[in-house]
Amino acid sequence: MGASNNIIAVDGPAASGKGTLARRLARHFGFAYLDSGRLYRAVALRCLKNGTGSDDEKACAAEAAAITEVDLDDPALRDEATGRLASRVAALPLVRRALVDYQRRFATHPPDGKGGAVIDGRDIGTVICPEAAVKLFITATVEERASRRYKELLGQGATAIYPAVLRDLRDRDARDTNRAVAPLARAEDALQIDTTSMDADAAFAAALRYAEKRLAPGTK
Ligand code: C5P
Repeated sequence: MGASNNIIAVDGPAASGKGTLARRLARHFGFAYLDSGRLYRAVALRCLKNGTGSDDEKACAAEAAAITEVDLDDPALRDEATGRLASRVAALPLVRRALVDYQRRFATHPPDGKGGAVIDGRDIGTVICPEAAVKLFITATVEERASRRYKELLGQGATAIYPAVLRDLRDRDARDTNRAVAPLARAEDALQIDTTSMDADAAFAAALRYAEKRLAPGTK
């Protein structure tokens, strides 16, 4: 299919609910969905497996260029250690550069003949797809996000300590917000949805109302 402007960019900090919302929007509109965090996690996992140091920018960029479908399916992508290292390698300009084309192509030429794409991440509305028809910025207080992440970990049978989860999220927020290249930021023209005291249904309803007005006519 040709270039598509049916792009929905969903940005926000870790555990803000952006992944759940993005998946739901993709299902609703029949769009392709890309969790861009998986790409950075895959770089981190390759670094862990191959002993590549996060201080060696060129080597990390080579890991980014070598990502395969197998890497993107690895259950260890979700590990806390992988997420922590992901936020370090994601600050490296050469790593980010290596991943730009894949994300842009996914947005403009969604796979499987889908009529649009939903991508979630940190810089989708600002750097990857500044032309996106719909931009959402999903937030929640760090305490609320830590509490969600903590419950999620317990639900998975993991051992977790709330203060440690909170500290980890604060560190990750600081790294994502303060890095020099493509920091976590709300695009000027993004709708901000604060999910601190909102359930997933209410966040979806707000996003849907906004998206329906901005997507190409005829989109479900
Ligand atoms: O969203 P998720 O927690 O899976 O992302 C892992 C890490 O990848 C984040 O902490 C962030 O540093 C980085 N990331 C990024 N830009 C994106 C998506 C994720 O820098 N578009």
